[in-house]
This record gives sequence, C-alpha cells and structure tokens, in this order.
Amino acid sequence: MTREKAQALLEAHGGGAGWTGHCRAVADAASVLGRALGPRHPVDHDFLWRAALLHDIGRCATHDPVGHGVEGHRLLSKLGCEREARLCASHVLFGLDASEAAQFGLPEREFIPAGLEERLVTLADFLMECDRPTTLARRFESLRLRNGGNPFFLDRLERAQARAEAFLLWLNGEIGGSAEELLAAPGRAT
Ligand SMILES: [Fe+2]
Repeated sequence: MTREKAQALLEAHGGGAGWTGHCRAVADAASVLGRALGPRHPVDHDFLWRAALLHDIGRCATHDPVGHGVEGHRLLSKLGCEREARLCASHVLFGLDASEAAQFGLPEREFIPAGLEERLVTLADFLMECDRPTTLARRFESLRLRNGGNPFFLDRLERAQARAEAFLLWLNGEIGGSAEELLAAPGRAT
C-alpha cells in the first residue's frame, strides 16, 4: 500500500469527520518518534505512517473503545491490508490476548503490538488527546473518566498503561530524552 492509498482510504471512510484529525495527528507523532530513534533502530517509516493513519479507520462504523479496532481489522483485512489490519486490533488497550480477541469476533490469536512500528503507533496514539499531544498519565486518566460504564475496558486499562509506560521508558532511554516533551515541543517538525 502506498501513502496515497492510505490517505484515500481514510478519506473514503472518514470524509471530514473529526476523528480523522486524530488519525493524522497520530501519523505525524509516530513519524516523529520513529525518526527520533535514529539509525540504530531501523524503522519502516512508510508502514509506520500508513498504519498510524489507518489505526482508527474502524471509527467509521463505531466509536466503541474495543469495537472500532475490530471493525478496522475487518475492513482492512477484506482489502488485503493485513499488516495495517493487525494494528487496528492490536492498538486497542496496547494489545488483546487470544481469548479477549475471540470475545470480540477477532480471530482467536494474540493481538499485541509487535515490532517497533506497531508499538510506536500505539504509544503515539496514547500520547495524543484528539489531535493534541498529552502525557500518558493524563491520557489514561481521561480514558478512565470517559469509559466509566465499560467494565471490560476499565478492567484492562491498568495493564494497558503498564505496557505503554514500559515502552515509553525504553523509548526515552533510546532517544536520550522525553518522547512526551518531544511531541509537545512547539513547532516540532512533522
Ligand atoms: Fe483507537
């Protein structure tokens, strides 16, 4: 898939909907993080950007915090975009185990962000509130407030936060600074 095809897909399914702004912001943020990692960690920058752009495409069908990942997986799988489809599912809660995946109609296997690109997109998603950079602490607090009536999601947020924090810690060590500050820097290059 090309970047142009990914953009066309988002346009076709999202039109001018507000959530597409979040997708673009996460694509920019993931690219910034991918570039910050430098040459010691080879990143497929095209895939990183495409997957980030499409990670929430399932929001064309539902805004359910788990269901939108399932719908995105279904939509992109049908189009033969397996790598991007996988990320739609695996970015949910920083990963679902096989039984959780099956419970929501996904194939019964683990959908946990694997490889740098999937983990970078998932982290970038948790570092953006809509289209604005935030911190993991603030974002998880906001998710807790917004999903108070969803026990499945709420029960797993702590695990998701621990996974996100562990990856952020690793990333900060590799880039020799704070990824949160890097994304929040005014006028950062995208
Ligand atoms: Fe999402």
